[in-house]
Amino acid sequence: MSTTTVVEPITVSQDNVRMRLDGKDPKFGDFRDDLARDGFAVVKGAVPQERALKYASDMHSWLEGFNLGYDRNDPSTVHKDRLPLINEKGMCMHYGVPHEKFVWDVRSEPGVVEAFEKVYNDKDLIVSFDAINFGFPNRTDLPPNKPWPHQDQDPEKPDFRCLQGLVNLLPNGPNDGGLIVCRGAHLLSDEFHRDPEIQAEARIPAWTPEWYGYTEKGMKWLANRGCEWVKVCAEPGDLLLWDSRTPHYNLSPTGNTPRFCIYTCYMPVADASQEDLVRKKEAYENWLGTTHWPNAKHTGSNVAKRDGVECPYNRSKPVNEPVLGERAFRLTGIPYIKT
Ligand SMILES: [Fe+2]
Repeated sequence: MSTTTVVEPITVSQDNVRMRLDGKDPKFGDFRDDLARDGFAVVKGAVPQERALKYASDMHSWLEGFNLGYDRNDPSTVHKDRLPLINEKGMCMHYGVPHEKFVWDVRSEPGVVEAFEKVYNDKDLIVSFDAINFGFPNRTDLPPNKPWPHQDQDPEKPDFRCLQGLVNLLPNGPNDGGLIVCRGAHLLSDEFHRDPEIQAEARIPAWTPEWYGYTEKGMKWLANRGCEWVKVCAEPGDLLLWDSRTPHYNLSPTGNTPRFCIYTCYMPVADASQEDLVRKKEAYENWLGTTHWPNAKHTGSNVAKRDGVECPYNRSKPVNEPVLGERAFRLTGIPYIKT
């Protein structure tokens, strides 16, 4: 008697490849599969919860340290007159904040760096000096946070180029605001931008070619292809990742819990030029931000302006300067500059 055995194909784990996010990545058996399929992923517990909550506390302390009357225990003190400049999207980017010790400590968290090392299959990475986000619920002292669905990548350069990230620091449920993404649309990006109807339309003005805003027609295009918008929920210490081509924006919280996060974006140093690294070094030495681009494509300023006038509480350096270990210092890119 003979028997027939059905042999299942072996899924070979190919852990040692750089992700391309082109729909042809191998299976990894971890968050990378979500990222490849959906254009975003959540890395659970990239930062231990206790430390994440401590970083959130550091963020409160940093706000209280301006001595303008903000008190974490009194929601009535959440007002622009009692806070440094934070825009309606929750972004805070001046005052040397991209280099505060707690921000660098988050950037240096091994579980965060490791996730990017896996995606790029590369340990020689550089990190952005990006903003941090204070999303307080139900603010009436700021303009409404209107949706601004966008990609952070030049449509003329269609391949995967940048993986963005944020470390979520407080419980972040459906009503707590935060990142909202259009699932799977990273793989449709090239087709979208080649569509003659889309090309015929005037673009939403942008301050950099590395930004594309979706019009009503663009949003309909995505909906017609069955793409869904998903509000990403997370626990303290979770790392949220998204391909810059994945359409996204953020929501303000509507419950009682603020939404605090720190943006963390890394890329292989091999993808940056020596010129980029020199510009990045200058940003580091002057405590400046670089947006989410780790190669310092854009460098910012520490001069916050309110209604066109310089904020009297501006600072040109962090209150607590970071203490970088060897691994963290490499993330500045400085050791890779050929002198
Ligand atoms: Fe963005």
